[in-house]
Amino acid sequence: MKKIIKNGTLVTAADTFQGELLIEDGKITQIGSNLSAVGAEIIDAKGCLVFPGGIDPHTHLDMPFGGTVTKDDFETGTIAAAFGGTTTVIDFCLTNRGKPLKNAIQTWHEKAKGKASIDYSFHLMISEINDDVLNELPQVIDEEGITSFKVFMAYKNVFQADDETLFRTFVTAKELGALVMVHAENGDVIDYLTNKALKEGNTDPIYHALTRPPELEGEATGRAARFAGLAGSHLYVVHVSCADAAERIAEARSKGYEVWGETCPQYLVLDQSCLEKPNFEGAKYVWSPPLREKWNQEALWNALKSGTLQTFGSDQCSFDFKGQKELGLGDFTKIPNGGPMIEDRLTILFSEGVKKGRISLNQFVDLTSTRAAKLFGLFPKKGTIAIGADADLVIFDPNAERILSAKTHHMAVDYNAFEGMKVTGEPVSVMVRGEFVVREKQFVGTPGSGQYLKRAKYNTPLAESERLSI
Ligand code: URP
Ligand code: ZN
Ligand code: ZN
Repeated sequence: MKKIIKNGTLVTAADTFQGELLIEDGKITQIGSNLSAVGAEIIDAKGCLVFPGGIDPHTHLDMPFGGTVTKDDFETGTIAAAFGGTTTVIDFCLTNRGKPLKNAIQTWHEKAKGKASIDYSFHLMISEINDDVLNELPQVIDEEGITSFKVFMAYKNVFQADDETLFRTFVTAKELGALVMVHAENGDVIDYLTNKALKEGNTDPIYHALTRPPELEGEATGRAARFAGLAGSHLYVVHVSCADAAERIAEARSKGYEVWGETCPQYLVLDQSCLEKPNFEGAKYVWSPPLREKWNQEALWNALKSGTLQTFGSDQCSFDFKGQKELGLGDFTKIPNGGPMIEDRLTILFSEGVKKGRISLNQFVDLTSTRAAKLFGLFPKKGTIAIGADADLVIFDPNAERILSAKTHHMAVDYNAFEGMKVTGEPVSVMVRGEFVVREKQFVGTPGSGQYLKRAKYNTPLAESERLSI
């Protein structure tokens, strides 16, 4: 059925204007005013903003990690994402050394199938480069449409890849048209510091942060950027948490290296002192990279505003406090790393960023949707409001005030990292391909209706305009 969204303020990464949208067969087919409403359902967006659906480029749903499995899977995770205004997630597919990549991808398809209520795609983890991997990667790109590879520079003896693997991944990605993403922390030095802390009897959650200092994130970020530059390749740094890493990205971009950066809600709002909460509650705030001293937040806001960082991911990786985070009682290295962020991503950036005058409304749309669509080969089908684009849309009340809480969130976890925080702005209704998933704050979607998205190859010319803005 045709739908017309009327009376809303349409916002893209470039423009803000009053307008109506006609939606037919899941696509936006007209943008204008006084559109003919014959046979169409009228949706009144009075007083609301209408954004392109959020694209979360960084999620871990149903992922085994830290001796357990993330609490949110593709069912609960994508429902929570939809409530938060996200209509596409790109999840990280973990691979196993010595095993075909296609097995891992198959496993991830099975995790999502029949469960996702919004559209989804996968990044592929690379932990080794050998003939088998090199033979398989072209199919990964052409048949699966997976055009981004993830390399971990930390988590020694688990996911960490060595420098040769990282460098060869840049070379290979450049040849194949893929974007390399890194978790940038120096895993070897962290391993030394964590063992030392444990030997000295320092087992509390705060030592997670103290053994992963910002210098080690800055160093790894700078190293990855130099490798990318040397290989003539391109780099996307996930979850930038501190000034040191943002400075390394700015430095690389000023040299003309094609380096992109993402930060996440937790690093803008929470800080290292959270890890000192009593009764082991600090474990709720264990992320890698860790939460930083508060002064870093201003540097991150400046990096978002200036374009040094271009995307805003959730790094959704949720574990219950009871039974999961508690695995690290008496040994901080056993606390599963990560937290629940998928639902509050847009609201946090809107409330703390747009409402407080730190970023513009158009920057907000770029950070939460458009730029990820461009970098990860989904644009212009996703990430904008344009004729021919998928009608993935968020009708957002910019004045709604509410308190974030585990009592009201839709994630499956038993805590909310922003518990008690007052925010302004709330998604009211959310559509994927023209169908409501959330309507008037009620879930009306169908698990399994989310579609797998094959993505286009990484498109380097986009970087030209970026360089001009440095
Ligand atoms: O602590 C985090 N970030 N957990 C998720 C895995 C990762 O490193 O992104
Ligand atoms: Zn990471
Ligand atoms: Zn992550």
